[in-house]
Amino acid sequence: MENFRGVKIVGVTNAKKLPTIAAPKGVPDYLPPQSPTFLQVRDTFAHQSHLAGYEHIELPVFEDTHLFARGVGESTDVVSKEMYTFADRGDRSVTLRPEGTAGVMRAVIEHNLDRGQLPVKLSYYGPFFRYERPQAGRYRQLQQVGVEAIGVDDPYLDAEVIALADASLRAIGLEGYRLELTSLGDESCRPAYREKLQEFLFKLPLDEATKERARINPLRVLDDKRPEVQEMTADAPLMVDHLSPESQQHFETLTGVLEDLGVAFTINPRLVRGLDYYTKSTFEFVHDGLGAQSGIGGGGRYDGLMAQLGGQELSGIGYALGVDRCLLALEAENKQFGRQTRVDVYGVAMGEDAKRALMPMLNTLRAAGIRCDMAFGDRGLKGAMKGADRAGAACALVVGDRELEQGVVAVKNLREHTQEMVEQHALVDYVQRLVAS
Ligand code: HAM
Repeated sequence: MENFRGVKIVGVTNAKKLPTIAAPKGVPDYLPPQSPTFLQVRDTFAHQSHLAGYEHIELPVFEDTHLFARGVGESTDVVSKEMYTFADRGDRSVTLRPEGTAGVMRAVIEHNLDRGQLPVKLSYYGPFFRYERPQAGRYRQLQQVGVEAIGVDDPYLDAEVIALADASLRAIGLEGYRLELTSLGDESCRPAYREKLQEFLFKLPLDEATKERARINPLRVLDDKRPEVQEMTADAPLMVDHLSPESQQHFETLTGVLEDLGVAFTINPRLVRGLDYYTKSTFEFVHDGLGAQSGIGGGGRYDGLMAQLGGQELSGIGYALGVDRCLLALEAENKQFGRQTRVDVYGVAMGEDAKRALMPMLNTLRAAGIRCDMAFGDRGLKGAMKGADRAGAACALVVGDRELEQGVVAVKNLREHTQEMVEQHALVDYVQRLVAS
């Protein structure tokens, strides 16, 4: 077969044994039996956001490359080194989304959502793509659930957003994490602070790459993990000590409300996020059981972003939780979340007539919300019961000629190892009670 952009496609018919194909490097598969947990974690996060009035927004997985260059910031690693950017067949430069905030803002501006009631509250989930060096907890396709609240600059909204992220993590049972919080100030105080910090940094004997970083984004030097750089910058001026009165007030109200809400936090004045759009309240949830990739979620305010993308001068705040890392955090805490079983009911039919009779019964149970599977093929009672066990079913419904004649089903309670004959018409009620018990 012909070459497709350098990939030779081999005809199936003339191949003997074709080589297998692995997933691209750094891209995880979520497979049973773990994959239901993935789904339940993601859905729980989304559900938490809906409880606070955030509505789902479904966004494209790729966007015009300019959106991220302008929105996320060209000096960030995410934009300068990690984007999956390519020309499509019409020679337009498109990029697989590395994050969600810029896309949400684009959609809000494009569809005038910001012309209605404010704040616009949106939540989203799905895959994001960053060409990072793969390691435990750092993937090239990562999964996030995020929220954005756009159009109101109110520290109570910041508190809601942060408390919502915290509630989401609690809702899946995580405990071993902490919330780090800081304020990055606003346009009225950050430029002056930036100069002050640069003045400080330029006097230090930094290596060339770090000096360059100090020129482009001096705040990032404060986040340098190398002990020698940390030592040199120990007395560096900090943004939290140079906030404008308005930013200071905003931050004080936020921390006060978080205390009222019982959301524990530590102020980390050196917290720096990997994206350029942040202003004022900025935060990260850090899990101690995850090694180097410890950020399980993060976010902050981004008051200039909408204007930066050609929209109104409206403020915004949001977060994204990393689903992959939250799953790893559950593992690190030795916790399971959600239903671990595949089905509630497993049907076992002895013979063709019984199979015919069993299938509609299972359909009726499914219609009542009960998860059912059955033994296919000719497995015999013993093999079929093994299948029921493996599926984690609460009960097996056994139907044979005798049961058919009497209009009953033998319901084997697999937890208590008991059995009862149940009239077919009473089956749904009976099974519902058994499964719920
Ligand atoms: P972010 O901190 O870049 O923020 O990503 C959020 C979360 O996604 C991280 O805390 C982490 O759990 C997860 N994550 C990021 N990169 C990877 C990776 N390579 N592998 C696995 N997980 C990863 C944002 O994306 C912002 N858009 C959040 C936001 C929303 N800020 C305001 N609104």
